Amino acid sequence: MGLTVAQKILKEHLVDGDLFSGDEIGIKIDQTLTQDATGTMADLQFEQMGVDRVKTEVSVSYIDHKTIQMGFEDADDHTYLQTFAKKYGLYLSKAGNGICHQVHIERVGAPGKTLLGSDSHTPTGGGIGMIAIGAGGLDVASAMAGMPFYLPRPKILGVHLTGKLNPWVSAKDVILKLLQILSTKGNVGWIVEYFGKGVKTLTVPERGTITNMGAELGVTTSVFPSDEETKRFLEAQGRGEQWAPLEADPDANYDRIIEINLSELEPMIAQPHNPDNVVTVREVEGTPVDQVMIGSCTNSSYKDGKTVAEIVKGRTVHPNVSCGYAPGSKQVLRMLADEGELSHIIAAGFRVLESACGFCIGAGQAPRNNAISIRTNNRNFYGRSGTVTAKIYLVSPETAAACALTGVITDPRDLESKFGINYPKVDIPEKFTIDDSLLLPPAAPEEAKTIELYKGPNIVDPPSGDPMPKDLEGQVAGKFGDKITTDDIMPAGDLLKYRSNVPKYAEYVFVKRDPTFASRCLENKKKGVWNIIVGGDNYGQGSSREHAALCPMYLGVKAVIAKAIERIHRANLINFGIIPLTFKNPDDYEKIDQGDEIKIEGIRKALIDGTGEVVLKDVTKGIEIPLEYHLTERERKTILAGGK
Ligand code: F3S
Repeated sequence: MGLTVAQKILKEHLVDGDLFSGDEIGIKIDQTLTQDATGTMADLQFEQMGVDRVKTEVSVSYIDHKTIQMGFEDADDHTYLQTFAKKYGLYLSKAGNGICHQVHIERVGAPGKTLLGSDSHTPTGGGIGMIAIGAGGLDVASAMAGMPFYLPRPKILGVHLTGKLNPWVSAKDVILKLLQILSTKGNVGWIVEYFGKGVKTLTVPERGTITNMGAELGVTTSVFPSDEETKRFLEAQGRGEQWAPLEADPDANYDRIIEINLSELEPMIAQPHNPDNVVTVREVEGTPVDQVMIGSCTNSSYKDGKTVAEIVKGRTVHPNVSCGYAPGSKQVLRMLADEGELSHIIAAGFRVLESACGFCIGAGQAPRNNAISIRTNNRNFYGRSGTVTAKIYLVSPETAAACALTGVITDPRDLESKFGINYPKVDIPEKFTIDDSLLLPPAAPEEAKTIELYKGPNIVDPPSGDPMPKDLEGQVAGKFGDKITTDDIMPAGDLLKYRSNVPKYAEYVFVKRDPTFASRCLENKKKGVWNIIVGGDNYGQGSSREHAALCPMYLGVKAVIAKAIERIHRANLINFGIIPLTFKNPDDYEKIDQGDEIKIEGIRKALIDGTGEVVLKDVTKGIEIPLEYHLTERERKTILAGGK
């Protein structure tokens, strides 16, 4: 039987399990990436493993999330990351070099390789023909130490692309369309693989936009073939020798196929507050806009920036709209500057922001109260922008530029018919400007031994967990609804400065939803009572932030019981010794309340035996609720031990 691209790469890297049977497979990881919001903890964990140098082909530590450095904490962390990278054999991408996924696809990623990143949008690398997976920091630290990465044995969802995008319709609209079809729910365990004649009409950065936001589907990753277009991109990046062809066999078997005719797509928009709340721009046009933010790892390529520059050239943004543009990398910023394109963006009235995550993670550019903010990033969860009352819409750069000029939500095709603006067809350049001066290489092994790690006072060794007790007796410390994100559990923004200080950061668990949650947990912990979290559907969706499991572990949380738990968060819970349980009967969610005393008798034995189910006794209500768990033997052992 023929193989798909994903199956070929996985087969090449398989170290445990079978691609066509069983629950999970273990693969060898060639490359890792970490970013500063997750990397300090990953590095601290790596230190505890006692390995003297990373075992991967290449590992890069990026500084892109907290580049504003509002207090000493961020700057201290960045210096720690730099000394760590130099000592342990990683490249360090300095603040200013750009957003990890953009830089990785430009300068590091290569077809046929595996990449594990402590950032949920690591699948961006699928645009260049990699199996690129987002994971928690501890899993990435383990991969840096040479251990395999385990993932559910994937099912392959083929997306058959035909046709060609029309002017004013772009890669973002492709992935928004797919989110409309598949939603953010129910896709766990799948790998999305693009194939068909439409593939070759998309450049690598466009493919990267699609695989980037594929993360919002909740799938393991997304991947494109490596073809002539991939070769052209790598050659333009001066890395032609790293190209290798990679295509699905003609008789490859996909577990499911979705057809998308690119010629039939139109501009799409994700409405508040979920990336799958997608309609056509036409359906909401005319709504007044307060803010437009262009950039983020989804839409910050050279092509995206130049397209925006050419659209706004010689024009001025609407007086009621606050506009910002963040180029994805130093390469993009420098090229747009050298070519005079940046000048058009500045002249039109955009503020030029750093080549960093910035507004996407709520680090600056919080909109005004009740604002309508149009953004090109990939997530519009409630409160992520920094303003809880704001409404965030996700669009392509073309649509964002149109909204900036008109002051209302505008289908960009109207720019041509109503304003006489021709669609600027932007291709990748023949040669990108190559300057890796902010990508610092590691020290040679001999010199590395002499390097002292820098640790500021806010950097605290990570805590470890307790083994699973014989019986789990505890209290429902918090009950939450559907679609709780990792940002709801462990808010980012300014609090990210505590990411290397778990006891401090843990004070803010669920602070946006329930400000007394953490103190209640700590009181229970003091009394020797375990804490239990109850959640609805899609619990833990969003970023790969392992602090959303690590900090609850510190607070004494030992179980999460939900209707469904998102993939990366589930893995993080296991890594930190918290058992992910689901209701056998989802309606039982209604029967259990915050403050209930609960008991799960024989939970340790059930995990040893792998029964797949346990019974929760709600002592307060005098009822019993059947629960399930779906854990491999390896995962059960991890939880029994109290975490990885
Ligand atoms: Fe950064 Fe936002 Fe991407 S936080 S890595 S730009 S999703």
